[in-house]
Amino acid sequence: MTPCLETHIGSLRLKTPLMPASGTFGYGDEYLGIISYEPLGAIVTKSLSLKPKRGNPPPRIHELPCGMLNSIGLENVGIKRFLEEKLPRLSELGLPVVVSIFGESEEEFLRVGESLKGAPSVSALEVNLSCPNVRKGGAAFGADPERVFHIIDNLKERVDLPLWAKLPPDPFHILEIAEAAQKAGAHALTLVNTLPAMAMDIQRGRPVLGGITGGLSGPALMPVALKMVYEVTRKLKIPVVAAGGISRWEDAMAFLLAGASALQIGTALFSNPRVFSEVHEGILRFMRERGMTTIEDLRGKAHEVEDHPL
Ligand SMILES: Cc1cc2nc3c(=O)[nH]c(=O)nc-3n(C[C@H](O)[C@H](O)[C@H](O)COP(=O)(O)O)c2cc1C
Repeated sequence: MTPCLETHIGSLRLKTPLMPASGTFGYGDEYLGIISYEPLGAIVTKSLSLKPKRGNPPPRIHELPCGMLNSIGLENVGIKRFLEEKLPRLSELGLPVVVSIFGESEEEFLRVGESLKGAPSVSALEVNLSCPNVRKGGAAFGADPERVFHIIDNLKERVDLPLWAKLPPDPFHILEIAEAAQKAGAHALTLVNTLPAMAMDIQRGRPVLGGITGGLSGPALMPVALKMVYEVTRKLKIPVVAAGGISRWEDAMAFLLAGASALQIGTALFSNPRVFSEVHEGILRFMRERGMTTIEDLRGKAHEVEDHPL
């Protein structure tokens, strides 16, 4: 019997736990004809702001032995063009669409969220709280539990869509921040976004990235993300969508055992267009070999062997 990979994020049913990580899959249909969408349980768009954004100067990406740096700078077409040109095509894919939103101020988050009210075939909003709060000197909104609470609480009041709070990797304060999102009524957490980082061009004596600093993603991020997913799901009830360095089915399995309800893959797709299919097949094979029938046979099982406090 083929094991069932169906998973639930609140009331949203996904046929598999796999989806692209925001910003690595364009607006969702760019990979049609290049990869199989069959293993996907949902689509996640790149993050959208109220107005179009041009992003950072090049170079915007830099490869590392253990992952990559990017300083795309949240380039996007703006919510209006997304609704007019991109969403109608996405709706035809027959998959739940998760729209990622961000703002440079709390008001912008609300206005972008509100413009998606009643949009056809949007299943959830992923609120990218890792972007800089321009009015607070550029620190990420997601670093401050109070800001996280306010943004989610206000969005919840005005937008009738499930909210996934996407947080930056802060292993020291994650419980406090995650709790604020849960208390404000987020339906899920996405853990984690990229880790602030940089690279130096020693010949030219300047930083490699046009944006000076960027975000670290890929395998180097995975152990950090895994620890955060494990810690949050042990302590809180809110479902967690894991992201950070998944490139093999074994990585996906590790996040499920740590307590994740769903999984996002970003960086690995750039070097391996078959990654979703391979991870999907690997999870099924593992479950079949062990006589597991549902994803619940795996989810959070690593917690059961743990009897000492974190
Ligand atoms: C090129 C690139 C662009 C990204 N753009 C976004 C974005 O627009 N919004 C967002 O929330 N995260 C963005 N991310 C972060 C990813 O969604 C993901 O959280 C992170 O890369 C960790 O997963 P990975 O190691 O599988 O890539 C981006 C990552 C990369 C590599």
